[in-house]
Amino acid sequence: MGGSLIFQNCLIIFLCTLAVWYGKHHWDRRRLYMMAKQKPGPISLPFIGGAWCFINKNILDASVGLQERYGSITSVWIGQELNFFLSDPEDLEMVLTSPHAYGKHVNYKFVKGILGDGLITAPVDKWKTRRRALAPTFNQKILDGFVQTFVRQSETLVKKLETIVGKGTFDSFDYISRCTLDIIFETEMGLSINAQHTEGQMLEWANSAFKIAIIRMFSKWYSNDFLFNMSLMSEVFRESKRRLEEFTQAIVDRQLEAYRKNVAQEYLGDEPKFKTFLQLLIELSEDTLHLTKTEIREEVMTFFIAGSETTATTTAFTLLTLGIDLTVQEKVYQEIMDVLGSDRNIVYQDLPKFVYLERVLKETLRLFPGGPLLGRSVTSDIKLKGCTIPGGSFLTLVVHHMHRNPEIYPEPLKFDPDRFLSEQVSKRHPYAWLPFSGGHRNCIGMKYAFMVMKTVIANIVREFKITTPYRDVGEIALESQVVLKTPDGYPISLQKRD
Ligand code: HEM
Repeated sequence: MGGSLIFQNCLIIFLCTLAVWYGKHHWDRRRLYMMAKQKPGPISLPFIGGAWCFINKNILDASVGLQERYGSITSVWIGQELNFFLSDPEDLEMVLTSPHAYGKHVNYKFVKGILGDGLITAPVDKWKTRRRALAPTFNQKILDGFVQTFVRQSETLVKKLETIVGKGTFDSFDYISRCTLDIIFETEMGLSINAQHTEGQMLEWANSAFKIAIIRMFSKWYSNDFLFNMSLMSEVFRESKRRLEEFTQAIVDRQLEAYRKNVAQEYLGDEPKFKTFLQLLIELSEDTLHLTKTEIREEVMTFFIAGSETTATTTAFTLLTLGIDLTVQEKVYQEIMDVLGSDRNIVYQDLPKFVYLERVLKETLRLFPGGPLLGRSVTSDIKLKGCTIPGGSFLTLVVHHMHRNPEIYPEPLKFDPDRFLSEQVSKRHPYAWLPFSGGHRNCIGMKYAFMVMKTVIANIVREFKITTPYRDVGEIALESQVVLKTPDGYPISLQKRD
């Protein structure tokens, strides 16, 4: 009798505590509830909120669908988190230049599990110091020094492609991603991993770890640490991550030791000397930043991951757009012949002269932006034209939708590089084209990416005519795996030019 009374009392106390906690939780969040009502969005269900919109859907299509249905500012509860989906250039400018939205979306935590506090996923305080210190390592003089590597690796790619000329349609992605991987690795760490000639385990580990991080980002079950840790996938993730880290750390440690012993640094054979990103980072760290070995490794991995996959997909998409529009391809070819002729190697002074190719790349990035959805967290209120985004909420910037908005880009599915003639650009809002994001936390590697892509594409187009089974860019299915990809590969065929 006494025991059951104690149990009853305990139960009552427990339920009262729960009710008080629940009441306080909602009271504290009353402002968020109120602010969510400023803008329309999908109906909220208990526990999951509007997350039902994403269940069994391609996240990119679901995000674009929200914009089409509810307008350029959509409010959505995803579980307990208030999210705003945005795609108006003026709003994007306000957000990307606001100090209250420097932090990344909570969803980035799975990528952070691999990249740690590297620049992309760094907490705001660390990011500010590092970004300031790292920006000069991407200056033009340093980048010009890398061009010899871009040229040598893209020539290897051309030789590889020569072996499949006339053999029908193939997926270009594997070839290109191995080339960009070799380029990034060499300019970043001063070593060749020879991914174009070997099986490239580094690529395998990185792909495997990232694939799992992305599954976790979008899965209701695997985003839960407990359920994930019970799964077989967690074993594969840990193993890939461990190998990736060990491999990169060994290189970092060796170069750090060489620097500290003041030993001649490890450059590439007899090539003219240039400082790699890792060497610059080590110098910075010893002088001012005082990074630990782990922090250096995280930064190196961040640049390697951020730089190789994005550059590879954009290059592969460009080969598709050139294969679809043969007139544009011919103009690119003419420009290459005008600048280089038929057999001179590219030197860094040539790259700014590829102005038409640059427009082609910009138009490709409009249709296929590397980062189609960008996520931020909001620490204090940000005032937009039509509403106030409250501190404590999250933002998804639907760049892909903005890039295909017919009010900004008439006939959005038409591939037209002349949209990027300066007189056309000046008619648009400066934030209407954001493949590299914008504001203070934009892509630090944009110039580097353009230089790599110009070199690789110029070398391919000079040697081959490209065709693809696609007839129109609108036929290419898309999905966001953090980086924008097509699930159907990048099919092209090559024919040697006379
Ligand atoms: C076509 C190629 C590329 C595209 C489309 C691209 C796109 C982007 C985008 C959209 C962001 C913002 C991400 C976010 O806000 O979550 C970003 C950030 C970044 N990118 Fe790139 N990127 C490219 C190439 C590169 C290259 C070649 C490197 C380095 C070698 C690089 C390094 C970085 C880094 C370190 C950041 C984080 C910057 C910061 O938070 O301060 N990217 N990039």
